[in-house]
Amino acid sequence: MPRYLTGIQSSGKPHLGNILGAIAPALELSKTSDAAFYFIADLHTLTSSKDPKALRENTLEVAAAWLACGLNVQKDVFYRQSQIPEVCELAWYLNCFAPYPMLANAHSFKDKSENLSSVNAGLFVYPMLMAADILMYDAEVVPVGKDQKQHLEMTRDVAEAFNRTMGPTFVVPEAYIREDVMTVPGVDGRKMSKSYGNAINVFEDEKSLRKRIMSIVTDATPLEAPKNPQTCTVFALYRAVAPADAVEELRRRYLEGNFGYGQAKQALFEAVMERFGPAREKFRHFVENPQIVEELLRLGEEKARSVSRPVLERVRRALGYSV
Ligand code: TYM
Repeated sequence: MPRYLTGIQSSGKPHLGNILGAIAPALELSKTSDAAFYFIADLHTLTSSKDPKALRENTLEVAAAWLACGLNVQKDVFYRQSQIPEVCELAWYLNCFAPYPMLANAHSFKDKSENLSSVNAGLFVYPMLMAADILMYDAEVVPVGKDQKQHLEMTRDVAEAFNRTMGPTFVVPEAYIREDVMTVPGVDGRKMSKSYGNAINVFEDEKSLRKRIMSIVTDATPLEAPKNPQTCTVFALYRAVAPADAVEELRRRYLEGNFGYGQAKQALFEAVMERFGPAREKFRHFVENPQIVEELLRLGEEKARSVSRPVLERVRRALGYSV
């Protein structure tokens, strides 16, 4: 049984892209695993935001999203990255095996490198902290959205470079990217992202959620005319959340004509409420009871340390730091 691991930053509210691209596939995989490792990447958040209050709120909401979607804390290991600070030590070791051009080529850096004075060193070595997250727990399979593919390749490269130089030490992981949800679009049709301001938060109050879905950008095809499901953001989102027979029915209506985007958005809103209704209630329960979430995370952090410490010891020995 492979060991699964994945993480989500707490740099904003958890959104539909995070849920469909990472949380749902991860929880599906964990059904066939003894113990999967799912965490909140709250140290990565510091590369973009220095706001302790927002950090605490977003960490609680990301944790509540995992729990509301069905994470099983009895079996899976659920923790905050920052509570296992050994990961920073491992990231340092990996930094020393990471060639400069590889890091300079990372999208996470390149996207911001036009204005270098706004790039901090943490952002530059961000992929090695992510590699440490993965290698620290001997993870074999990492469920992520497509935007994380390059980071996974860098993780593999640095693990292989370390193993070649210092002897077999790390398990070399693989990305698991589900094609149907690898890039969930946001309300403007671009990839849904906290930083683009185009996210749909399925845990928002019903009125705001409906308003958000109604704001999805569509083309100017008149109501009577047939519409192209393949190029429509509303349809792409519907396909990602609704059952297959309902998707076929919507496709038929698009192609038939006399069906407006307003109606399609209403169908999407209903499908989101249908799919996430029970999770929305659980989410509210966890956000209103942060002490429960705190307790569950602490439990997970104990379990996480029991795995990370021996792995770090193995790395230290390989490098000559253990006596
Ligand atoms: P983050 O926090 O940006 O996103 C968390 C997860 O959600 C996926 N995702 C999406 N999937 C499909 N469509 C979208 N529009 C969409 N937006 C986000 C991401 O691909 C990701 O799987 N660096 C990582 C966090 C991280 C991590 C790790 C992940 C830190 N350490 C170790 C895996 C393993 C990040 O910023 O993801």
